[in-house]
Amino acid sequence: MSSALQIAEPPGLGYAGKNRLQPEDAAIHGWYRFVLGYPPHLVREYLHRLGANPAEDWVFDPFSGTATTPVEARLQGFSTLSADANRIAVLATRVKLAWDVDLDEVQRTLLDDVLPLACRCLHRVNLTPAPEEAQQLPLFESPLAFERSNGSAVNGFDPNALLPDKAAALIPKGFVSEKPLHRVLALKYAIDKVAGYATRDLMRLALANTIVTTAGNVGFGPEVYRLPPKRMLRACRIPMKRDTTDGVPAHP
Ligand SMILES: C[S@@+](CC[C@H](N)C(=O)[O-])C[C@H]1O[C@@H](n2cnc3c(N)ncnc32)[C@H](O)[C@@H]1O
Repeated sequence: MSSALQIAEPPGLGYAGKNRLQPEDAAIHGWYRFVLGYPPHLVREYLHRLGANPAEDWVFDPFSGTATTPVEARLQGFSTLSADANRIAVLATRVKLAWDVDLDEVQRTLLDDVLPLACRCLHRVNLTPAPEEAQQLPLFESPLAFERSNGSAVNGFDPNALLPDKAAALIPKGFVSEKPLHRVLALKYAIDKVAGYATRDLMRLALANTIVTTAGNVGFGPEVYRLPPKRMLRACRIPMKRDTTDGVPAHP
């Protein structure tokens, strides 16, 4: 192999550093990853060491995880074939390899359809869309959200039916508190109800990411472990009024 083809490992890094996602790869690879994912520069290096040629070779990853190998191979111009035993890994691979998603459509569906419905679902089970003390944009509870949402789908929302005891028992104790879990379930319910096929998987994966990074109390290092429940930040929300006509809160 000629030296021109060699991809140098990131300079000045020890063993642990070499296995880390490098900043220049973060935008494409970093938004959904797990600890066992390969670093993209490793994939690049092996494709070159193997002398693989995008004009005639395919890259097959039967254990695709969160898709570093197929994503990096596609970036290098290879056709890819991927599989994994884990359904979330399959979802991550499918979403990270779908590069023609209309992001305006994703945003429109989220703001106009998903959030309003999730919001109504939570009020149905007497839960505010955001923790009382949470610091966040009032997006979830905007007046438009309530006006736009279709009330008929709300009646089907039942957190216990969405997460039967058998499934709930699989969640290790303390990994997610009940309220954030119900908020996640409301979002999942709304995504599944209103998002079209092209946008649904992307939203599901983004939600899965939120469970790990925001809603849940999960740490990695490298094993998975439980973190203490999150402390609330100072409130920054618009107060809501009750609209007595349909039992759904409305804004001033
Ligand atoms: C180290 S990760 C793969 C990393 C990935 N190739 C990348 O490019 O980042 C290993 C993956 O193998 C999957 N796996 C383990 N045993 C498997 C099996 N018998 N069949 C299919 N997938 C399996 C796991 O679910 C996990 O996602």
